[in-house]
This record gives sequence, C-alpha cells and structure tokens, in this order.
Amino acid sequence: MKHLKVPGPKAKAFIERDLKVVSPSYPRGYPFVMDHGKGTEVWDVDGNRFLDFAAGIAVASTGHSHPDVVKAIQEQAEKFIHISSDFYHEKWIELSEKLAEISPFQEDTRVFLTNSGTESVEGAIKLARYHTNRSNFIGFLGGFHGRTIGAITFTASKPNYKRRFFPLMNGVTHVPFPDPYRPILNLEPGQDYGERIIEYIEEQVFEKILPADEVAGILVEPIQGEGGYIVPPAGFFPALRKLCDKHGILLIADEVQAGMGRTGKWWSIENFGVEPDIITSAKGIASGMPLGALITKKSVMNWPKGSHGNTYGGNPIACAASLATINAIQNGYMENARVTGTYTLEKLKEMQIRHSSIGEVRGIGFMIGIEFVKDQQSKKSDADIRDRVVNLAYEYGLLTLGCGKSVIRVSPPLCTNKEQIGEGLEILDYVISLAENG
Ligand SMILES: Cc1ncc(COP(=O)(O)O)c(C=O)c1O
Repeated sequence: MKHLKVPGPKAKAFIERDLKVVSPSYPRGYPFVMDHGKGTEVWDVDGNRFLDFAAGIAVASTGHSHPDVVKAIQEQAEKFIHISSDFYHEKWIELSEKLAEISPFQEDTRVFLTNSGTESVEGAIKLARYHTNRSNFIGFLGGFHGRTIGAITFTASKPNYKRRFFPLMNGVTHVPFPDPYRPILNLEPGQDYGERIIEYIEEQVFEKILPADEVAGILVEPIQGEGGYIVPPAGFFPALRKLCDKHGILLIADEVQAGMGRTGKWWSIENFGVEPDIITSAKGIASGMPLGALITKKSVMNWPKGSHGNTYGGNPIACAASLATINAIQNGYMENARVTGTYTLEKLKEMQIRHSSIGEVRGIGFMIGIEFVKDQQSKKSDADIRDRVVNLAYEYGLLTLGCGKSVIRVSPPLCTNKEQIGEGLEILDYVISLAENG
C-alpha cells in the first residue's frame, strides 16, 4: 500500500495563504488542496491522486467535471450568465418541468429554485407557515438542515452550530430520531422503534407541550446525514405520514443530502413508501454548481406573487448543469448507485467481521455509514479511531468524511464503479488495521 507524502510543498504553501485570509470557521478535516478531478478520481496541487468517497459532501453526483455537465455550463455561459428572477428563461422552465416529472407527488408539482440547501430549508419553513397559517414545527435530534438562523434552529447534530448564535427561531420542538442502533426510548417487545417515536410525539409532545393543531410542519431527513448516516426502521415513515394527516401537518422531507438518486431512487423517502408534502433539495442536483430547490405539491405552494423570491434563483448556468446532471443520473447513475451501493454495503459488512472497531455498517445505495466503537458489546462511540482512519485514508489516497459522533460516510459520486470501490475499500481495510493497532 503506497503512502503518499502529503501534504506536499505546494499544498502547504496554499494552506499558509488560506489561513491568513479565509474565515477560520470552516471545519477543514485534513490538508487536501484540490487541483483537478475526473469522475471519482481527484488530484491535489502536488500531483497526488486520490479516490473520492466524499464527493464534496455528496455533491459531485455525476463525478468531477462530467463532460456533459461541463459542456452544458460552457454553452450556457456563451449565451448569458444571469438575468435575475424578475424575468423568464428556457432553462429555468425546463428544469422546473424536469423536477416536477421526477417528483414523488400524485398531484401536480410546483418548484422554487434556490442557491443552497439552507435556502431551500428556509423556503420550506416560510411556505409551511404561509400555507397552514400555523407557526410551530417539529425537528429531530441529530438532524442537520443548514446554518442560516431558521435552518440551524432545526439543526441538532452538534452544539457548536449554535454556540453564541442565540436567540434562534421560535417554535421548534425536537424529538428523538429513530436510530435502531442506539435507541434512547424504551420499547415494548416486538414494537417497531419508528412507531415508538410517533407514539412519543402523540403522547408526550402533543399531550404535554405543543398543541398539534398549531404545528405547521415536521422537518425530517429520511436518512440522517450529518447526524451519522442513520436509516430509520420501516415503521417510521408510514406512522409519521399518518400522524401528519391526522393533524393537518405538512411532512417536509429534507433531501438535500440523500436525494437526487443517491439511494437508488430520486428521493430517499421513496425507499419507505411514503409521499411527503414538501421536498428540499440541493447538493447533488447540479453536480456542484450552487443550486437548490423547494419542490412541493401544487396545492401546498399557494403563496402569492411577491411573498418569496431571490436574485440568483434559476441561475441559467446552474439550471443547465442541473439538466445535464439529471439526465446522467436518469441514464444509468441512479441504477449504479443502487447496484454498486448494495455491493459496497456487502463488502463493508464482510470487512466488519475482520475489525472489532466497526460497530455497525448501514445505508442504502451510495449513502453508507461505518460506525466505529470501543467494542461491539458496549457500542461506546470511538471518535479517536474514526479520526485516525479518516486521516490515514487521506495519507494512502482515499478521501472520506466523518459524520455523527464516530461514523465515516461512504458517499462517492454516483458513477463510481466496482473496481474503484474495490480499490477504495482495500485502502480502508488497510488503514483501519493500522488505526486499530495504534
Ligand atoms: C440534509 C441537509 N440539509 C441541509 C443542508 C444545508 O445545505 P447547504 O450547506 O447547501 O446550505 C445540508 C448540508 O450538509 C444537509 O446535509
């Protein structure tokens, strides 16, 4: 296994300059300085090659610089770069039509384009309040929804996101997310943990602190991302849908990380057989161009002219990149995420047998979490070994990112093939052994 001499001299020089001018708030993990990328491979400024199992936090859905995406960007840039949301243009309309086509709604769809995940979430909060004329929400412990004031109110994965930023938005009550590996509520024998959470909302939250008829929406990541790549049990979403219907509450699926084909379906909530009322999207939607979307049932998006807007919404270059991205996902990459993702999960489960530090491997498609523990019986989180594995993987040519307390996320571009998975897992296997041996 080849150990790279990283960071090299050029990377070090760039980082020195960065430290002098760039905001110190960014949570940089290790000193990778990108030069260029192609598909699942990336190169740093010193010429070192890496496999990218992070995809720029699950963003480079079609891989780095996919030729169709590059061409679409170039062609649009030649024509015009911006006209503002006060006017119309073809790519914006075409993309909204495409998103409506792939949306999971039985009824017609409406689309509002944004510039980021957090802006999509802010839009969802405002729309839910407008539509229901109610002001309260429910969010989930461990959830991540962004860093603007409304979105961080829901974000509950680390206190750092909120420290010294209070006061936040009013009216958000957090409840446990159904993490089957680490349940925090007691269970009756045979009870589905997802259904148990809904029972808790009904019996504890709605009967003691929050009138159900004043709740506008429940905002949930169908598979928690930043919180630890956690897949809820099968009973959760059907029970949540029923709860929302019973009380006239909007079910808002935050698909910023898990959506756009990453789980082998356009929207991760489709894995649970449930239709939401609102979807928030971003990240993989345009292969890295800054674009997001608020996608809703037509009847839900009933806000009037002038009530919500933005300057860059529907940016033509971002729309062109998104159309090329959706085309590539539709024509093979979504299926690849399903098939090669399942293969990756199986291989990681085999790897778990060889490594006592791996407590659980879980996920759907190319959204897989590897949870590190002090020992498999106590399930005590081991963030130190996780951090060592992430850093060693970088030194041996594999980019990964952590999430949760002690989890590594495997979220490669959706084009990643079996050979690349094999190469990446070989590095991972090797560095986990190194980390386990101190
Ligand atoms: C589920 C989810 N929602 C929202 C966001 C915020 O997106 P952005 O960083 O584009 O604002 C993220 C980002 O990681 C996310 O994972």
